[in-house]
Amino acid sequence: MILAIETSCDETCAAVCTEDGRLLSSVVASQVADHATFGGVVPEIASRRHLELLGPTVATALTEAGISEDQLTRVAVTSGPGLIGALLVGVSYAKGYAYARRLPLVAVDHLHGHVASLQLSDTPPVGAHLVLLASGGHTLLIDVDDAGGLTTIARSMDDAAGEAFDKGARLLGLGYPGGPALGYLAGASDPQARAFTTPLQGRDDLAFSFSGLKTALSLAVQRLNSDDHAARSELAAAYQEAIVEHLLDRASLGLTSTGRTTLGLVGGVAANVRLREQLGTLPATVTMAPLSACGDNAAMIAMASRSLPPLSVAEMESLDAHARSPLG
Ligand code: KG4
Ligand code: ZN
Repeated sequence: MILAIETSCDETCAAVCTEDGRLLSSVVASQVADHATFGGVVPEIASRRHLELLGPTVATALTEAGISEDQLTRVAVTSGPGLIGALLVGVSYAKGYAYARRLPLVAVDHLHGHVASLQLSDTPPVGAHLVLLASGGHTLLIDVDDAGGLTTIARSMDDAAGEAFDKGARLLGLGYPGGPALGYLAGASDPQARAFTTPLQGRDDLAFSFSGLKTALSLAVQRLNSDDHAARSELAAAYQEAIVEHLLDRASLGLTSTGRTTLGLVGGVAANVRLREQLGTLPATVTMAPLSACGDNAAMIAMASRSLPPLSVAEMESLDAHARSPLG
């Protein structure tokens, strides 16, 4: 039995799964309400809340899994990338927990975790595939080879897709978290009514860019009558559409350049309804993380840990949190 812990940002998460990948519990203690009044994640508040929430969250994960501590065979923890203070709470807790119970400890990269969230889907990818990872901190195309090796083939030149949703939501006067709020405002409005140019279209750069789109939205919002709900909704729909088209356009380019025929969609933005709908138009076998595993969670960390070696005692003692990832 694997106990996994994830505290890289503003969700305190613990999960239990069997060594052969059967998920028994996944608990996410959200801090959204603690950060909402500030319009975004406040790192110091996140760290302090992780400290308060992690013990009870682990206890709930074990109870929901119906197992006792002595059935655990390993502990897995996210060691980066993310907010250093937040990560340190999880890493220190996991080290102490594993050390005291003489359990092996596995350090997991958060981005590898998102990729592994596909294993929680009803149709996990088989063999080599390409993954579109779109979250609040990253927008990446990651190639997964037959042996499970990960290589990043495209990154964002500026903002991440989730950041584009969050900043767009702020410009439209919506609350935090912005992604779901913007998707909701877009609703069934016609995205073509106020079209935005899709970034990098017609170019073969294997890269993403969202900052120009945000500037275009900012200019459009200035021209808008704020009482005109239909116009705000159309603007949200057009902005969302441009983000979705850009993600699809680059994913399509990635499929062509790698020759992969299966595409996975993961990360917080993978919860976007329009993106999930449109992904099916790509010439590939498409697989998506389940909605429950798009945002940050520990189930994906448990899944990723299954293919990783445990740390030696010396590595465990020196394990530190890191803000950046080699995949990012
Ligand atoms: O993966 P995640 O939970 O955290 C990071 O690792 O960054 O991603 C969070 C991001 C936020 O920017 C949030 O606004 C976005 O995912 N997001 C969405 C939706 N749900 C969450 N973006 C668009 N549509 C959604 N439904
Ligand atoms: Zn994440």
